[in-house]
Amino acid sequence: MSSLRVAVVPGDDSAPEAVRATVGILQNMKLPIELDLLPEGTAFQAMDRSEGEALIRSAVANCDALLYGSTSGKTGGLAYLRWSLGTYANVRPIKWRPGLPSPLRRPEGIDYVIVRENVEDLYCGLEGDLATLLASGLDTRPWGGRIEARYPPSSASDGRYAIKIVTRDNTVRAAHAAFRLARQRKEHGGRGRVTTAVKWNVLPRSDGYFREVVRSVGSEYPDLELEDYLTDDFARRLVADPYDLDVVLLPNLYGDILSDEGAATVGGLGVVPSGCYGEDFAYFEPVHGTAPDIVGREIINPTATILSAVMLLEHLGLSADAVRLEAAVDAAIEAGDRLTPDVGGSSGTEDFAAAVRERL
Ligand code: IPM
Ligand code: MN
Repeated sequence: MSSLRVAVVPGDDSAPEAVRATVGILQNMKLPIELDLLPEGTAFQAMDRSEGEALIRSAVANCDALLYGSTSGKTGGLAYLRWSLGTYANVRPIKWRPGLPSPLRRPEGIDYVIVRENVEDLYCGLEGDLATLLASGLDTRPWGGRIEARYPPSSASDGRYAIKIVTRDNTVRAAHAAFRLARQRKEHGGRGRVTTAVKWNVLPRSDGYFREVVRSVGSEYPDLELEDYLTDDFARRLVADPYDLDVVLLPNLYGDILSDEGAATVGGLGVVPSGCYGEDFAYFEPVHGTAPDIVGREIINPTATILSAVMLLEHLGLSADAVRLEAAVDAAIEAGDRLTPDVGGSSGTEDFAAAVRERL
């Protein structure tokens, strides 16, 4: 069997510590993959921007999938991985595992997956001065002037604007990813349900459109159920009653915010992985940031990065290895003797990684 190539980007601040631990585990597993290790963030910082970008581009061109630590901006490349490669579905499993802490009295049974639309919404960098918007000829009166506003934008002394984009094409792409995933999970005992949440009541033309397009995609999956919420009510449900959720489809901004909320219910950001999938490429990264407050202390929880590697193995068709690695993580968490501080332990990154390796 010819070997698969995986590029590994360690990232910034504490992220390389979690990535090192993960790479150690992968090397230990004797997988049919070749790892291409890229430099850490500090080395990227020393290069000029185009050199760093070229490095990531060529790593992508020469690999079957990529594992990304996390960046605070030094490494960069995320914009390329998301927007240039069009990795439109950001898949974030929110699953409670025995042994993990939770602020909920009953975290047992929380097991759903957020599919976050990953390339549009408020994440297109379309911002500017309010003056420009006012001069553009666009009618900026609140609600098209149907009500009389006391403080309309045109009366402001200064301000900014940001634009939210919702296209049919990217909504359709993300929606298909969610329905396909729900179908797959149903084959393994899942509920066969997609839940979506937007503010269609205040944003009928944009969020309402998202909801409408999702409904039309949903009609192609008669074997699945589609449930829909208002985002604010859904944020309540995520903590009050997350048990019946299966696949949750959200636009970019709500997906970003609510995946951190979901993470909080299942052990925190230290344990939630993700995969960003496009038409012809996917890369994998923890949901968390770079934890600059604990850099160099070797106590970052590597679980989120290890579980991102589990998703990567699954994506590469190495399902048995993915299952084996996830089972080892589960067993190490359940044993509970070498957990990192964020999940109530007092061990280091490498200690937890060793506990995982011993169970492989
Ligand atoms: C995430 C992060 C990123 C995002 C940041 C680092 C740009 O918060 O992956 O959730 O907002 O998507
Ligand atoms: Mn985020």
